[in-house]
Amino acid sequence: MTGDEPSVPHTARIWNYLLGGTDNFAVDRVVGDRVLVGQPALAENARLSRAYLTRVVRWLAGEAGIRQFLDLGAGLPTADNTHEVAQSVAPESRIVYVDNDPLVVSQGRALLTSHPRGETVYLDASLENMAHVLREAGRTLDFEQPVAVLFMGVLGHIKDDAVAQNLTRTAMAAVPSGSYLAICDSTDTTPEVAEAAASGTSPQPSPTTCAARTAWRASSTAWNWSTPAWSR
Ligand SMILES: C[S@@+](CC[C@H](N)C(=O)[O-])C[C@H]1O[C@@H](n2cnc3c(N)ncnc32)[C@H](O)[C@@H]1O
Repeated sequence: MTGDEPSVPHTARIWNYLLGGTDNFAVDRVVGDRVLVGQPALAENARLSRAYLTRVVRWLAGEAGIRQFLDLGAGLPTADNTHEVAQSVAPESRIVYVDNDPLVVSQGRALLTSHPRGETVYLDASLENMAHVLREAGRTLDFEQPVAVLFMGVLGHIKDDAVAQNLTRTAMAAVPSGSYLAICDSTDTTPEVAEAAASGTSPQPSPTTCAARTAWRASSTAWNWSTPAWSR
């Protein structure tokens, strides 16, 4: 990444580093390396989560026939971004990326260019104000047609599980039958992950939390699960 060397590490750039990207500075790599000492599996987890995103979007655009994507907490552009995968299957796909970090949004706007037959926009907004996000996304997406709503690596930034679950419910209430919800995040499946989140050694300098898997299961009984749901 070019530009003035910042003195403060940044969540999205650390994640970009863990993903093997180049949009990060020395200060981000120092924190990333420190986190990897405590959680050596994290770099692989970052790459697996990107592989999951790719697999999900390809499936949604292909087998499920989805043409509209709302990618919440989209992060810095890296390999296989949502619109690239979706538009490689269906060029007319429309994608709304959302992030609340100005640096991420300006990088995203500069780099995430759409296929001419589709549309890609990047919103500067917090998913905690879901009403605003949905209103703005509605300028690009047709909420009368199915939408895939993606929460990839972002719900951990919402401290309270109940609030996070409510955000997913609010988003899904705005989209019609035939829509899809995809979530990728840390859950309390292993003691190491739960402890890292609780002790603040998770990758982000901003607070993150590790969702209780059982609570998510209980909150989602209204939805039908596509196979494989709850993959690790
Ligand atoms: C770990 S990164 C995940 C990026 C990408 N979704 C991925 O899976 O590779 C989390 C992103 O969520 C963004 N974020 C955190 N809290 C947010 C909020 N309340 N609203 C929107 N974006 C948020 C951060 O700025 C960061 O870019």
